[in-house]
Parts: sequence; C-alpha cells; structure tokens
Amino acid sequence: MACRDIVILPDNILKKPSLAFDTIDGKAQDLANDMFETMYHAPGIGLAAVQIGLLKRMLVVDVAKEDEPRDPICMINPKIVWSSEETSEYEEGCLSIPETYDLVIRPAEVKVTYFDQNAAECERHCDGLLATCVQHEIDHLDGILFIDHISRLKRDRIIKKFVKAAKQKDTK
Ligand code: NI
Repeated sequence: MACRDIVILPDNILKKPSLAFDTIDGKAQDLANDMFETMYHAPGIGLAAVQIGLLKRMLVVDVAKEDEPRDPICMINPKIVWSSEETSEYEEGCLSIPETYDLVIRPAEVKVTYFDQNAAECERHCDGLLATCVQHEIDHLDGILFIDHISRLKRDRIIKKFVKAAKQKDTK
C-alpha cells in the first residue's frame, strides 16, 4: 500500500470526466487500498481516484465518527439510481481545495448501485453525511467540484486564490 499525492485546484484534471472500469481485478484492489490509505492519512472522509490523478470511476468514503470503528466503503462505477426530493445542506470541504468550506444543498437521500473492490454488485441507500459525501465524490468522477454548486462570485474568488497560490509555488 502507498499513500499518494493529492491533486489540488486549479489542476485541470479535476475538471475531466473519469472512465468506467471494464474489469475489477487485483490492480483495482491495490488502487482501492492506496486510496483508503491516502484518505485516512489526509485525513478526509472521501476521495475520488481523479484526486490522485487517475481518471477512473472509483471512490472511497468513510463517514464513521472518531470514536466509532472504521467503516470503509469503496464504490466502483457508482450510479445514483434514486434521489429524494427532500434536500439537506452541509458545509462541504474537499481535499483538493484545502481549507475551503461552503454550504451545498443536495438531495438528503440517494440510492447508489456500484461494485465494491471485490467486484461484488452492491446497492446502498445513503442518508445523512454519507449521502452528501457519496454525491460529492460521484461529482468528482464527472469533473464537478463542490464549488460548482455555490455562487459564481464565491467560486471565482476561491479559484483566483488557488491560481495565485499555485503561481507563487512555481516561482519559489
Ligand atoms: Ni472533494
């Protein structure tokens, strides 16, 4: 297992759609392990493969509280097959947009179909923080960031900040 580097805004790969897995083999399992390690190390509650520079439709999440046992979930080729009309609002953050948080409104509950890292076909009803987290990560697989759900003014301000920071890093 290896901890991977996390891609940060404004890296263009974050805007690209990820490709589905044709087969789920040992390589996919190795990738899932690396993604869990990277997410726990960050630490974060969700990570999509594009965030470590791979345009593949895989995400990992774990929304267990600190005093609860770990609850790792890996979703490969996830699809939202149902969303509730009821919405909920969470202050979201993203490992690719560090130290930036804003309120995002999403369906409060979703039903997701996916394959796990052992290629088992799964269906999961998600609510609460898990629903938010899974929708945030599936967005990543379509090149969408949580800041795409907030006002253009706020989004532009955040992007500007990260573009500036990246330039400063380059000239150092
Ligand atoms: Ni994110």
